[in-house]
Amino acid sequence: MRPLIAGNWKMNTLRADGSALVVGLIEQRAGEDPGCDILLCPPFVSLGLIGDIIAESPILLGAQDCHKEESGAYTGGISAPMLSDAGCGFVIVGHSERRAQYNETDFLVSEKARAAHENALVSIVCVGETLVDRDADNTLSVVEEQLLGSVPKGANAKNTVIAYEPVWAIGTGKTPKNIQIREVHDHLRMLLENNFADGNEFRILYGGSMNSANAGEILSIKNVNGGLVGGASLTVKDFWGICTSL
Ligand code: PGA
Repeated sequence: MRPLIAGNWKMNTLRADGSALVVGLIEQRAGEDPGCDILLCPPFVSLGLIGDIIAESPILLGAQDCHKEESGAYTGGISAPMLSDAGCGFVIVGHSERRAQYNETDFLVSEKARAAHENALVSIVCVGETLVDRDADNTLSVVEEQLLGSVPKGANAKNTVIAYEPVWAIGTGKTPKNIQIREVHDHLRMLLENNFADGNEFRILYGGSMNSANAGEILSIKNVNGGLVGGASLTVKDFWGICTSL
């Protein structure tokens, strides 16, 4: 399957930074197809701007979160239909920063993913253990509970991507050993196959301190079908380096 490399800009970039970044990536992509799909998830307020700039390029647009409801009295909320209307094809749900900072539960994440699917968006559902979980040898049971609780009925390989992001690896410069990544991705694949008819076709991304130096090795691990990249998605050199390391 064709890998997906997704850049999660988080709460970074003003309009000028985002435009410069995306123009640089378009230039690189025009000269070479690196053999993966490339997705950018800028802040909500930049979606229109970035969407306009990438309109004629193969680069894809996504958002970092959505509300579970379609519309209504939810001050500050952004709904899945709004994202679709703004040109997004993807939305990240259940990122560990949302789970930790906004108390998002597996059930809420599944509702957001359902709203995404109902509005023609591909959900990128994130799971991952904390260091406490890992040290207690609970990694597989934690990601299993998150996966089964966060991926809604009706999910399939076309409308859902899974991202495994160990919380302790995000933004820390630490990455799991290859064998640890492989163990979790194999477990997620088994769960997907046991629960969804096309479970062998879901893309399972790795995220957490991925950079152009470690991406080649991580992306060659079985059942790693791409990456979800935070810090290293904020410069053309680093992000393109990851895209071309397959
Ligand atoms: P990082 O973030 O690449 O900066 O570790 C990844 C993520 O949170 O998606």
